Amino acid sequence: MSNIDSILVENRVFPAPAAFEKAARVSGRAQYDALCAEAAADYEGFWARQAREQLTWHKPFTQVLDESRAPFYRWFHDGELNVSYNCIDRHLPLLANKVALIFESDNGTVRRVTYAELSRLVGQFANGLTSLGVTKGDRVVIYMPMSVEAVVAMQACARIGAIHSVVFGGFSAKSLNERIIDAKAKLVITANAGIRGGKVVPLKAVTDEALATDGGDVVERVIVYQRADEKDAPVAWQKGRDIWWHELVQGKPDYCAPVWVNAEDPLFILYTSGSTGKPKGVQHSSAGYLLGAVNSMQLVFDHKPDDIFWCTADVGWITGHSYVAYGPLAVGGTQLIFEGIPTYPDAGRFWQMIERHRVSIFYTAPTAIRSLIKLGGDLPAQFDLSSLRLLGTVGEPINPEAWMWYHEKVGGGRCPIVDTWWQTETGSHMLAPLPGAVATKPGSCTLPLPGIMADIVDEAGASVEKGGGFLVIKRPFPSQVRTLWGDPDRFVKSYFPEEYNGRYYLAGDSAHRDDDGYFWIMGRIDDVLNVSGHRLGTMEIESALVANPLVAEAAVVGRPDALKGEAIVAFVVLKGPRPAGDEAKRIITTLRDWVAKEIGAIAKPEDIRFGDNLPKTRSGKIMRRLLRAIARGEEITQDTSTLENPAILQQLQESI
Ligand code: PRX
Repeated sequence: MSNIDSILVENRVFPAPAAFEKAARVSGRAQYDALCAEAAADYEGFWARQAREQLTWHKPFTQVLDESRAPFYRWFHDGELNVSYNCIDRHLPLLANKVALIFESDNGTVRRVTYAELSRLVGQFANGLTSLGVTKGDRVVIYMPMSVEAVVAMQACARIGAIHSVVFGGFSAKSLNERIIDAKAKLVITANAGIRGGKVVPLKAVTDEALATDGGDVVERVIVYQRADEKDAPVAWQKGRDIWWHELVQGKPDYCAPVWVNAEDPLFILYTSGSTGKPKGVQHSSAGYLLGAVNSMQLVFDHKPDDIFWCTADVGWITGHSYVAYGPLAVGGTQLIFEGIPTYPDAGRFWQMIERHRVSIFYTAPTAIRSLIKLGGDLPAQFDLSSLRLLGTVGEPINPEAWMWYHEKVGGGRCPIVDTWWQTETGSHMLAPLPGAVATKPGSCTLPLPGIMADIVDEAGASVEKGGGFLVIKRPFPSQVRTLWGDPDRFVKSYFPEEYNGRYYLAGDSAHRDDDGYFWIMGRIDDVLNVSGHRLGTMEIESALVANPLVAEAAVVGRPDALKGEAIVAFVVLKGPRPAGDEAKRIITTLRDWVAKEIGAIAKPEDIRFGDNLPKTRSGKIMRRLLRAIARGEEITQDTSTLENPAILQQLQESI
């Protein structure tokens, strides 16, 4: 366990401000402790109560948790509901005219959509999908920019029981193609383009390329939302396959009856990186997933009817699923959706939008906070941010300096910060302060949500009270991943491996606990990097590099980065001689562009080093810990006696 010793010492404690605590849904530490005690005393009873109180059921469930096929757990599995009904219809009697979505485009135009309008948009589009032959259980890939339509597309799938798989708009044609094939998608929903930071991103062209690649012909139809003027984003058109969104919905009835689904029917698949070259299709349920989203909206965001909620995540990531497409709507909230980027037209954009829309809850990633500090640490002072009452972060550990800046400059010292630890696989927050009940500490995601049995254990599964260990969740919880799409064996091996006793959900992170029992996340224990809050498998990047005809071998590691959290460093052995000077520079550019094309721009290595070989053991295994030390510019103190070719270390060190 020596590699996961903790180094951070942070003693500042911030109790919830009295006024916040008084008004909070869970008010004061005693109430939080009572909820935890309720869950500990009657685990199923606790979750059954939440599920009955928070969700609207078409057919009530009688069994809470079915563990008979562990670790393929089932929750509320004889109940029936519809997720879109829970997000829209159940609010209509009282909230029809309440604004559900405030959309701000890249260039600042604003569109407001009420719940009644959202109902019509979703109904029409769901009817459109049905008219194209999409039915319950079909897979629909959504490759769209941040837009009202992206949310409508997801809700419409949920409405008819189709399973969506959203692919982030920054992924390449190849990544899109792989996901389409793995999910066997019948239909793709895209846009002629996205517009971000003043630039036109040609999504339809990438879709065409993805579908022209081997296996892309599983897709029968492509729906194209017209975001940009045709002259700015001309598109090729395949007759019989492609159809404009606006033509599809024309004349369709604006009500579509929800298809009642089983609690366990999949709501969506979302691909994420794991320890192998192939992304994992994380499959979520309908009821348990939605319960996690609603529960955390209420407990962690302490959501109130008057709140203006803003989660800056793209719908291509899990955060944009749980806290854009589903959670805020399921609680009948008003939320802001932003098409653009935080630095356009300048680094004051977020603060300007908070002022403009009177945002009260703001949820973003540490990487965004760090880059906004760098580009304009004093800018928040130029805006009226008094509407804010709660701040949140997600995706990676937040360093205490960034936390303090966020607290003081953005939150005016009065807003609690909820540092939320969770994953694509957990579906919703697992560790986070309940802001009116749990004091915060900069850099700690504090304590588990009531009903989440998180712990830190050693290899044998024994609790580690002090020091570092593996973060696990000891009991199944409603919003957890159900399986990996088409790969149940990998599901078991990834999350419930025998080596760690096979019973606990293994998160893949290391963590330690302080004297108050607070959790501090230290990072991944597997070959997954966290770059700007996004997960990237080192193996995925390696396979992409090796696929280039110039490359014989590649090893990818992470290096701490002040802005991105982690930066990607690739060590490459070419088929030809080791390049130097301008030739090396040229090949570096070629390989970076290649990775962007293979995976997406987010996976471009920051640094590429060439060697005649890689450091390997005599049995041929690449010694990554040595590469990590080299990437970090550290002196190599590890034992290198098992190394086949010790001289290579010096070569790689000098190749800077
Ligand atoms: O390493 C943890 C880190 O992000 C990983 C999950 O990535 P992903 O599935 O893409 O989901 C990100 C958004 C939920 C985790 O295994 N992580 C996430 N939140 C935090 C975090 N690390 C530290 N603190 C957090 N609050």
